[in-house]
Amino acid sequence: MSKKDLIDIKRLPKHIAIIMDGNGRWAKQFGKMRIFGHQNGVKAVREASESAAELGVEFLTLYAFSTENWNRPKKEVDALMKLLVETIDKEVPTLNKNDIKLQAIGNIKSLPENSYKQLNKAIEETKNNKRMTLNLALSYSSRWELTDAIQEIAMKVKKGEIQPENINQDLISSHLETANMPDPELLIRTSGEYRISNFLLWQIAYAELYFTDKLWPDFRKEDLYEAILDFQNRERRFGKTSEQILNA
Ligand code: IPE
Ligand code: IPE
Ligand code: MG
Repeated sequence: MSKKDLIDIKRLPKHIAIIMDGNGRWAKQFGKMRIFGHQNGVKAVREASESAAELGVEFLTLYAFSTENWNRPKKEVDALMKLLVETIDKEVPTLNKNDIKLQAIGNIKSLPENSYKQLNKAIEETKNNKRMTLNLALSYSSRWELTDAIQEIAMKVKKGEIQPENINQDLISSHLETANMPDPELLIRTSGEYRISNFLLWQIAYAELYFTDKLWPDFRKEDLYEAILDFQNRERRFGKTSEQILNA
């Protein structure tokens, strides 16, 4: 039996975020270059997107490249950017077939021109799709995003468009890259690392965290189902007592 059958569709997380980690170690197992791991991670991206869309998850955010990843050897960065362009180009028909809208968060203007153009083209070509938003975090880091948002708010204050006393949580959220998206309720990280690595720090304030030892290229639909089942077995208290939650 698939774990899918045990999932309560009425209590799905609306937004799932995944830190796709472990590609390099996966390749190393086979004595291959790190890029071989990235190439094999594409299948896992497809499986995660398809299974999330089939279930009815509304937003899936995938951490594909962090601000800090620019510090990797140039050869790896170049290969990753090339893989990004090739994959996006190839996947657009499937995204359209599955009614999935592509979006991106991060400093995407810092991507090589070709990658930036392809990405925008794919975003444009899938913009009318309705079933799920696949949100790629590219050249993204939370501290970059927060710094950018604070600058933007400060500029508006300077121009008199915002009064400092009117700065509230909703206003801050609306200046983040994820404006118009609900906060992720479930954050998954693969590869057995227990850290957040500068991902969605504001947005995951109350997310349930799920860690698996699986390396990203080995991640399959059943792994997503397992994470969702784990999520559904937790009691989300948001600061209240268990009794308050049970008697609500
Ligand atoms: C995740 O896998 C993909 C990116 C960060 C781009 P890694 O490349 O970090 O693989 P490991 O963690 O070194 O095994
Ligand atoms: C986090 O993975 C970034 C992505 C998955 C894109 P890293 O492999 O870069 O994170 P650290 O360096 O282990 O924290
Ligand atoms: Mg890693």
